[in-house]
This record gives sequence, C-alpha cells and structure tokens, in this order.
Amino acid sequence: MSQRKTKKTIRLFDMKLSSAAKKEVNNVMASGWLSTGSRVAAFEKELSKLLNVPYVAAVSSGTAALHLALEAYGDLKNTEIITTPFTFVATVEAIIMAGARVVLADINSDTLNISAEAAARKIRKKTKAIVPVDIAGLPADYSALKKLCKAHALKLISDSAHALGSKYQSKTMPELADVSVYSFYPTKNVTTAEGGAVASKNKKLIEKVRLLSRHGLSSNAFQRQKSGGWGYDVPAFGYKANMSDIHAALGIGELKNFEKNQQKRAKLAGRYLQNLIQLSDFIKLPPAAAEICHSWHLFIIQLNLKRLTIDRNKVIAEMTKLGVQCGVHYQPIFELSYYRQALNLKARDFPNTAKAGKAVVSLPLHTLLTMSDIDYVCECLSGILGRNRC
Ligand SMILES: Cc1ncc(COP(=O)(O)O)c(C=O)c1O
Repeated sequence: MSQRKTKKTIRLFDMKLSSAAKKEVNNVMASGWLSTGSRVAAFEKELSKLLNVPYVAAVSSGTAALHLALEAYGDLKNTEIITTPFTFVATVEAIIMAGARVVLADINSDTLNISAEAAARKIRKKTKAIVPVDIAGLPADYSALKKLCKAHALKLISDSAHALGSKYQSKTMPELADVSVYSFYPTKNVTTAEGGAVASKNKKLIEKVRLLSRHGLSSNAFQRQKSGGWGYDVPAFGYKANMSDIHAALGIGELKNFEKNQQKRAKLAGRYLQNLIQLSDFIKLPPAAAEICHSWHLFIIQLNLKRLTIDRNKVIAEMTKLGVQCGVHYQPIFELSYYRQALNLKARDFPNTAKAGKAVVSLPLHTLLTMSDIDYVCECLSGILGRNRC
C-alpha cells in the first residue's frame, strides 16, 4: 500500500442521529411525560426481542446496569468477584460499588478477553462470580467460563457493554450468562445518549434491578399516575438509576437502523481485515472464529513492537499527523494510579495484559466511514510501520 497524497480527517468515533430517533424524541417531548414510562417499557421490549431473553431493565448507564445486576444478588460483603484488568474502569468500579472485592485475572493474548484458565487459578471460597468483558464486541470464552462457573457454583455476569449484536455459538450473551449488561453511551453501536440495560432469563433478578434503580420504591411515578394512587412502600435500599422516556425514545429510534448499521460495521471491519493481512509481521489482527458473531464496536490491532523502531504512542501520533484519530482500549486497570494503589496491583502479575496494554491501537470504526476511508487509514498505517520497521 503506497501513501496517498490527499490528506483526510478521520475520527475514531462519529455518529449522526437518525431521523427515526429525532421523531421518537419529539413525540416524547410533546407527550407530557418525560421520565420513566411507556417509552422505557417499549425500549425494553425491543431489546428483549433482539437479545432473545424475556426480561430486560433499562437503566441510566452501563455502569449502573453492572452495579445493580451485581447488587441484585444480595449482600456481596466479604465476597470476591473475578474480572479482567483489560477493561474500562467502569467494570471494576461497579464491582466495588456493589461491595465485593475485585480480583483480576490475566487475559488471552489473542482475544484480549479474560482467560478462563487464569480465572480458574483465582477462585477461592469467597469467590461469588466471574465478570467477563466482551472486549470490542468479541464474545468471551463462554464455553469454558460456563463450565468453570458451574463447577464452582459461581454466577456468570457478563459486562457486554460492547457486545450488542454479538453472538457466541448463535446465542446472545444473556442467553449464556446468568445476567448481562449493556451500555448505550454515544460511542456504542446503539445509543440513548446515556443509558444501559440489564438482560436475563431470570425474572426475579430483573425485577430486583428495577426496584433498586428507583430508590427501592415499590412503584414508579408513571405507574402511580396511571393507577390514580399515590402510595408506595420502600422494601429495599435503592439508588437513582432509572432511564427516562426521552433517552429510551432515542434508543427506540436508533434500534430501527440497528441491523443496517451492524452490516455496515461488519463490512468496514472486513475491509480492515482484508487490507491489513499483508501487515501481519507488524500487527496482530482481531481473531475470527466460525462460532462467533462480532459486534465490531471497536477494531483493535496489536502492534508487534519487536519488529518496530517506534512505540505505540508514536504510531498513534504519526497517524494523528496524517489526519487519522486512533485510540487505546484500554490502559490496563493496574496502570491507573488509584486502582494500582487501592487494589495493590502489579503489572508483572498480568503479563499478557501488560504486553497488550502497550501494543493496542483502536482504528476508526463507525457507520459514517466509507471503504475509501478504511483504505486511507490502512495506507497511513502501512506507511508508518514500513518506515519504522526493524
Ligand atoms: C467495558 C465497559 N463496561 C462498562 C461501561 C460503562 O458504560 P456507561 O458509560 O454506559 O456507564 C463501558 C463504557 O464505555 C465499557 O466500555
């Protein structure tokens, strides 16, 4: 691939709100009811169809979704929950909010997902659950994780924030796990501006999440208005984490284009894979497997730093000069000063994560990109790696 002359500007994430979403939001604005009501219920129903599980609770964020899904299992004091250090800080934060001790297990270097073998080594009497993260939209190793959880009577709670549209052996994450959580942050494959959801086959668990999301109140204001009554009880300590009808309306509108957008993401990712295969001495590409349907939330490559004279940050800086914005998903949890100290973490205990943390680059991936944009990104990358190889 030779470098092109015309410079483009390509953002890591970008989006254009659909006219369907604008229309849905306008309808709510005119309806006289803005917070949790019929639109939230309708959004939950759409998600339930998409995820092929009967129960979904929409909440205010993916972080709240994970916090409440964990807390719905009861008192987690003196328990341990195993998760990956290769995730966004929200995963670890939610476990701590729910009162459990975070235990990190190293990742598989190819998938960047938690290694079931490493997780197995961390199981103790106090372990209550494993929280895999389907990084970038690539499902975790659910066969191995399910076996492990079954053998040790642990809950499997997936942080599927990246994985709306992902499947493992033709099943969605909540079909496989005890409970799964999603995020609808604006960079995600479907957005509600801010929002999240908890999905499960377990009715009681989802009812508990709903209760916890509205201060522990036995009913919400919409239900009370509809019934004409004013009374409620507070049978549990709760939080403020409900989704509003405005946010849900955005999600309902965006879901209308979901299949089309997913096809576009898959096509763009396919072009990256096709173009970048020739750089396989210098980069590791995201793995593909027949049993996996990838949501392509992110396109993460890993640099083979042994073959390059520059480091990852310099590669990103060179890409920026050429107009291509790249990202890093993620700086490992043990590189973040608060968590390194609070959890007493050492990089040497997570060799695969430590190595990946220095090598990963997220290339632009969003539905406003064209094939020619992808070609430009690949040409820029090829030029930079070619000029700096050893
Ligand atoms: C892996 C992961 N988990 C949880 C979250 C939290 O989602 P939210 O931003 O909706 O709270 C994110 C958000 O980016 C995420 O990437």
